[in-house]
Amino acid sequence: MFRIVLGCILWASVAVSFTLPDKCTVFSESHNECNPVAPASFLPAFQDTAFKSKIRSEHTDGSSLFADLLEALNVTQSEFFAPWLGTWPDAIDWTAAVIGTHVSGATRSISQDPIFFISNDHDTINWRWTSNLVDKYFTQLVGYYFGQDAFAIRNEAYDDMLWVVLGWLETIKLVNTYDELYFTPVGANLSEAAPGAADEAFDEIINQPYHGTTWLPAFSHRARIFWDLASRGWDTKLCNGGMIWNPRLLPYKNAITNELFIAASISMYFHFPGDDNESPFSDRPDNFNPTDPDSDRSSGPRDARYLKAAVEGYRWLRNSNMTNEQGLFVDGFHISGYLDENNNNTRCDARDEMVFTYNQGVILTGQRGLWDATGAPSFLKDGHRLIQNVIKATGYDLKSDSPIEDLSELKASVLPRWHGLGRLGIMEEYCDASATCSQDGQTFKGIFFHHLTAFCAPLETPPADLKLLVHDRAFTQISRSHAEACKSYSGWLRHNVLAALETRDASGRFGQWWTAGLLAGAWTGAWPTRADDKIPDDPDATDYRNYGVPDNAAWRSSVSMLAPAQTPRKYGSREDQIPLGRAAEQEQTPPGTVKRGHNAKDPNNRGRARTVETQSGGLGLLRAYWHISRIP
Ligand SMILES: *[C@@H]1O[C@H](CO)[C@@H](O)[C@H](O)[C@H]1NC(C)=O
Ligand SMILES: *[C@@H]1O[C@H](CO)[C@@H](O)[C@H](O)[C@H]1NC(C)=O
Ligand SMILES: *[C@@H]1O[C@H](CO)[C@@H](O)[C@H](O)[C@H]1NC(C)=O
Ligand SMILES: *[C@@H]1O[C@H](CO)[C@@H](O)[C@H](O)[C@H]1NC(C)=O
Repeated sequence: MFRIVLGCILWASVAVSFTLPDKCTVFSESHNECNPVAPASFLPAFQDTAFKSKIRSEHTDGSSLFADLLEALNVTQSEFFAPWLGTWPDAIDWTAAVIGTHVSGATRSISQDPIFFISNDHDTINWRWTSNLVDKYFTQLVGYYFGQDAFAIRNEAYDDMLWVVLGWLETIKLVNTYDELYFTPVGANLSEAAPGAADEAFDEIINQPYHGTTWLPAFSHRARIFWDLASRGWDTKLCNGGMIWNPRLLPYKNAITNELFIAASISMYFHFPGDDNESPFSDRPDNFNPTDPDSDRSSGPRDARYLKAAVEGYRWLRNSNMTNEQGLFVDGFHISGYLDENNNNTRCDARDEMVFTYNQGVILTGQRGLWDATGAPSFLKDGHRLIQNVIKATGYDLKSDSPIEDLSELKASVLPRWHGLGRLGIMEEYCDASATCSQDGQTFKGIFFHHLTAFCAPLETPPADLKLLVHDRAFTQISRSHAEACKSYSGWLRHNVLAALETRDASGRFGQWWTAGLLAGAWTGAWPTRADDKIPDDPDATDYRNYGVPDNAAWRSSVSMLAPAQTPRKYGSREDQIPLGRAAEQEQTPPGTVKRGHNAKDPNNRGRARTVETQSGGLGLLRAYWHISRIP
């Protein structure tokens, strides 16, 4: 069977680098000499006295960062979410799905660290405050379940569908985490403690799961429907596999759709509990691996179909030659001569060299999940290599843990050097400095940080039902080096956080161009345009995400074939992405004043300025720093 074969091969690779004692098995169900330490039996954190004694110190150490994270989440929801519509009205379908993902992730983070909500006695957690906060965001997410335009997204591109899958799986993780932490039945039994005083109905109420679990079937159903729809984008006729981006354009196999398919598939494998809801569509994917006899079986938890999709997707992507000399993912491939009848080419050979931040991010969730499922360290290695390439491309040196250029030599009117994905150690999208980002581009950096957070979560032994064998010593070793590598990214994250925090306006809304947070106090020059932002122009790089899909033979077979509503917007037109109330001609408008008192011009007031998407960038970044900086 597929899974077992995979397990053997991949665990064998662990054995190569970490010698296995003869008798030892890895992840066996019983504890033996290889796994001598029984896991501590579950004790809710709030009953743990050691935990209580930590309260004071952690509160003083981390509370200002935690407060910034809470504020970023609050601003996201109070400034941009409309409860009566159940959505963020200025977002578009896919960006809303991503924002929901951030809100689920951040709410889960808060629920894991309630120690910052301390009662007046400084010794206990105030659960009223915690649950009021968690439920506030959870009910907003439920609102968004109905506010999401699921019917529209069915007709959008495959990547749009997969953001939906990742979003609801993230909400499922929030519910499960909260439930497991605080609502796992603790065996409270009032009728036993005081016979006759309380009846059994009471005990049942006390032992209820978190009420959020009521929504798991709904979220699971939405995730399953969209995975099914998206999996039709898998195509083996061209390029030996891979997902197609958009069924309404010439075949384009890009990084994002494939990374999403890998990340969504492996996340389905772990977090999708099954779904027997046949409504509104009961059709199963019919073209993902048609030779798989199981592909129309109704699914339950740990459906091997999803693991298989993730593994095949990863294999394809890794062999697709989609990284450049800096080790960064470029955007994707067209098939040259596709429209030419005399050309039989089916290879992905026309590469778009454009580099976006989010293409370096989503795959991290895939790599982490594939490690969790298989125990093959190569997935973690690939991920760390990519992260380190990204950090380097922002102009940051991990060895010295500082930006490559000396900040003190910064000239007040010269834009710092471009390193491939940022400058001065701060991550930048190509469109940031010139303030020419579309709504798409404004969403990207936050996505990178969301997936970095997922990747850098502490390693855990696989859930028992996977019946994977784990070698303890190898596992400990890998866990330690993973944690150390992740921890080493904190200085870079901190540097980015400090800059990003400086871009907040008086309402606490984050700006798009974080580097400006370092420059704002010192900058005297004119703000850069796309022509003088020091980013080299590459004729092979098409920034279709920010400036629209070109109206040419590389991208479109015939524009007239498409109904206007279906036509992806054209290169150079950004009208549809200017937020309400802000006309295009207001671009490059001047000077607001940034929050922290200096009278510098506000570069983040240009272009689309501050939006729910730029806000989500700040939220994703703060959350990554919150988790990664606290790795012990
Ligand atoms: C959230 O923001 C709103 C609007 O700015 C404010 O009224 C409210 O007090 C904030 N809530 C928290 C918990 O910070
Ligand atoms: C509580 O204790 C009573 C009496 O021992 C027992 O009948 C009942 O099943 C227990 N309920 C739960 C939920 O454990
Ligand atoms: C990978 O892509 C680059 C850029 O298009 C190209 O120069 C190179 O030949 C490709 N390598 C392979 C092995 O196809
Ligand atoms: C394409 O296929 C045709 C018919 O099979 C063949 O005659 C021709 O040589 C092929 N062209 C190329 C460029 O391979």
